[in-house]
Amino acid sequence: MKKRWWHDKTAYQIYPKSFRDSNGDGIGDIRGIIEKLDYLKDLGIGIVWISPVYRSPFVDQGYDISDYYAIDPAFGTMEDMEELLAEAKKRDIAIIMDLVVNHCSDRHEWFQKALKDPFGPYGQYFYIREGKNGRPPCNWRSYFGGSVWEPLPGRANLFYLHMFAKEQPDLNWENPKLRKEIYKMIRWWLEKGVAGFRIDAIINIKKDLRFRDFPADREDGMCAGTAMLACAHGIMDFLTEMKREAFAPYNAFTIGELFDFDRQELKRYIGEDGCFESIFDFSPHLLGGSDHGWYNRKPVTIDQFRDAVFASKAVSQEIGMMANIIENHDEPRGVSRYLPEDGRNERGKKLLAGISLMTFGLPFLYQGQEIGMTNKQFHAIEEADDICTLDEYQTALEHGYTREEALNLAARMSRDNARTPMQWSKEAHGGFTTGTPWLPVNENYQEIRVDEQEIRKDSVLNFYKQLIALRTDPDYGETVVYGKQEPIFQELSDFMGFFRKGKEKTLLILANIRREPRTVELPLTIKRVILDNCAAGLKPGSPISMEGYQFLVLEC
Ligand code: GLC
Ligand code: CA
Repeated sequence: MKKRWWHDKTAYQIYPKSFRDSNGDGIGDIRGIIEKLDYLKDLGIGIVWISPVYRSPFVDQGYDISDYYAIDPAFGTMEDMEELLAEAKKRDIAIIMDLVVNHCSDRHEWFQKALKDPFGPYGQYFYIREGKNGRPPCNWRSYFGGSVWEPLPGRANLFYLHMFAKEQPDLNWENPKLRKEIYKMIRWWLEKGVAGFRIDAIINIKKDLRFRDFPADREDGMCAGTAMLACAHGIMDFLTEMKREAFAPYNAFTIGELFDFDRQELKRYIGEDGCFESIFDFSPHLLGGSDHGWYNRKPVTIDQFRDAVFASKAVSQEIGMMANIIENHDEPRGVSRYLPEDGRNERGKKLLAGISLMTFGLPFLYQGQEIGMTNKQFHAIEEADDICTLDEYQTALEHGYTREEALNLAARMSRDNARTPMQWSKEAHGGFTTGTPWLPVNENYQEIRVDEQEIRKDSVLNFYKQLIALRTDPDYGETVVYGKQEPIFQELSDFMGFFRKGKEKTLLILANIRREPRTVELPLTIKRVILDNCAAGLKPGSPISMEGYQFLVLEC
């Protein structure tokens, strides 16, 4: 694998609205991020991805952009953004922005012009089609519920396409003029000094242009957008062009958000000449999913989680470096989702951290993960802000669940779980704001908070620091970053074991993911314990005995 500057970094996602509010209006902002750069530096972070801060009406929390060249006043000013870039640079932290170009906001001037003149040049920036006698052109369902087609106001039998909310019209990538506008905008930001982009929902930019019905997969007569994506061919032409025209001249770092793509094509995505530098590895997150909605998701076992990670790495590590995440702003908190109930404590949280950071790939932390933040408590559906949660709640009700059941089902996967304010201190609202936070802080903020964990040596936060530091360790860094991952003990249940075999060193990673202790017969002799999440330590020789939820990094 050709070495790249970002391989030994650890990345961190900031959800700006909930990170740190500097002026007391209850909304996190760019100055709040600047305040916390030293905290990130101290944690060992080298790349920061900031979820959208562009001007937006916030129908989908900034993923609906009405001006790509402006900072939303809720987050600050362009000067704040420039200061952030400069301050981050001083600390050797690369800032990447969110690139949301599958769609824009219905308030964007392009769409406003398209509304006025659907057959004019800006109409061509979107997918505007005739319906079937006043009914939508075809039966695709939006990711946020309902048809992907919305009537064009004031125009009989004309519809526009939106894969997400109706306030997020899809941009027509078939139109070269639109593509040029996008590339120009990307270059403008790179010129300003951003190091690259996390690229939102990018697989959606290629549509099946036949716009025809697919077999219905629910009682509503519609089919998931993903059925259409499977028949949309030719996305590589767009992605290769975008790389050539926008990213490559600036050597930008790019990381794609892709769920539904052809795994056979991985090399074209992240191989040496791939269209992106990296993509997120969502293989554990896809487990248990259902076409019918959140209410129908299946529980995921530890063994399924492990097998999914191993299967994905077996293929990807030969091709490029994917990014490992356990949570983000769209997913529940990893500790609430993947750890068995009796392991949702500090020891278990360190174990989960260890698995994620010792697995081959670029570690991507999501704010609050480093202190072990957990899911939000929902007492009523009115507490939900996220449009997706509201839709999934309705879907559960329609399938005969009681209000209480529907609330629990929607809460389990809600995107609000990860969007509650960052828990900095024991002050009101976790020290996130001096005002009233836009989303209430998690009830456990007194217990789980940064200031307490910073001074306590055996905290989750300090364990993360140790894991992160290993990536650049003079003795072990090469192995942690590039060492080949090979599973061991896969026949054991509730257990995850693997080697990382580097040029000079071999590490053995062992995680006993259950409450009961167990003994393991080791195939090699152990030279050193590098990391241990229990005070218990390890006696020399084999077999070794491991405590419940013990996690070990050993040098063999
Ligand atoms: C991505 C984002 C998500 C957003 C969607 C539409 O999946 O991560 O938050 O709602 O795209 O932009
Ligand atoms: Ca603010």
